Amino acid sequence: MSSSASPSPDGAAERPQERLHPQEHTHLQEHFDRTIAKDQRIEPRDWMPEGYRKTLVRQIAQHAHSEIIGMQPEGDWITRAPSLRRKAILFAKVQDEAGHGLYLYSAAETLGADRQDLTERLIEGRQKYSSIFNYPTPTFADVGVIGWFVDGAAICNQVPLCRSSYGPYARAMVRVCKEESFHQRQGYELLMTMMRGTEEQRAMVQDAVDRWWWPSLMMFGPPDEDSPNSAQSMAWRIKRHSNDELRQKFVDMTVPQAEKLGVTLPDPELRWNEERGQHDFGRPDFTELMRVIKGDGPCNAERVGRRRTAHEEGAWVREAAAAHAAKQARREEKEHAA
Ligand SMILES: [Fe+2]
Ligand SMILES: [Fe+2]
Repeated sequence: MSSSASPSPDGAAERPQERLHPQEHTHLQEHFDRTIAKDQRIEPRDWMPEGYRKTLVRQIAQHAHSEIIGMQPEGDWITRAPSLRRKAILFAKVQDEAGHGLYLYSAAETLGADRQDLTERLIEGRQKYSSIFNYPTPTFADVGVIGWFVDGAAICNQVPLCRSSYGPYARAMVRVCKEESFHQRQGYELLMTMMRGTEEQRAMVQDAVDRWWWPSLMMFGPPDEDSPNSAQSMAWRIKRHSNDELRQKFVDMTVPQAEKLGVTLPDPELRWNEERGQHDFGRPDFTELMRVIKGDGPCNAERVGRRRTAHEEGAWVREAAAAHAAKQARREEKEHAA
């Protein structure tokens, strides 16, 4: 993409230094601030502070990587799904996640990021993706619990992002959220079916719930007091709610669903707080979150390794497409000249 962009250490390509008169800079900054204050969108053509652009590139890239890496834990079950119906549903779901990754890489490109560069940062471990996808999926109940918890958590996170201040990101989220809501329902429907099945199937569901509950709560990130960049992101209206607010929303949404399903959430401190009108719940193990983010989760090496192999094995497709495009351009040039 943008040939003027050169890589910088944090993944947000540098733009050539704008040489603006200080007065002009103040004018642009004021216009940007007013746009944000009025809750209007910033578009790719608009001037934006460098920090805003870099924060967005980092967040959107991480989000895109999460969608793509997130195909793996469930993708493992496509060949082993218990029926044709389950296979078709799972196939569609995993394919949707690939689509989400593509919308998001495109949104990052509108900010001057280079897709190839973002992919390299992911497979070299220089850019992160959601910690949740580093946990294994040993049983088919995991497919259901991922849909229910992980896509449910994604909905809590992403619905407010539909009002994010950056236009292309906000618009991508509108479509993504519609699909996430289907993902959550397919997961819950699968679990409902299993809960109506045998004792063994019910035990599988409970076991998967026990394993995924805490990692799902960690998906919202560190507690607010340890999340120093959140305040700036909220001031820029990239983010609309704090990590702890979203975590609370997820718990309040999930508890009644667990009751209806007939499973227990593995938290002895979980109870309704009449005064707050919300649930109290235990503190996730944030040292585990940090460890998994830093690369030491149960499946980090496997996930990134598989993505790296896929990228290497796809090299010939990218080369062939580039060669075809070059040939096409030469032909058009010749026709023009004739
Ligand atoms: Fe997704
Ligand atoms: Fe999803």
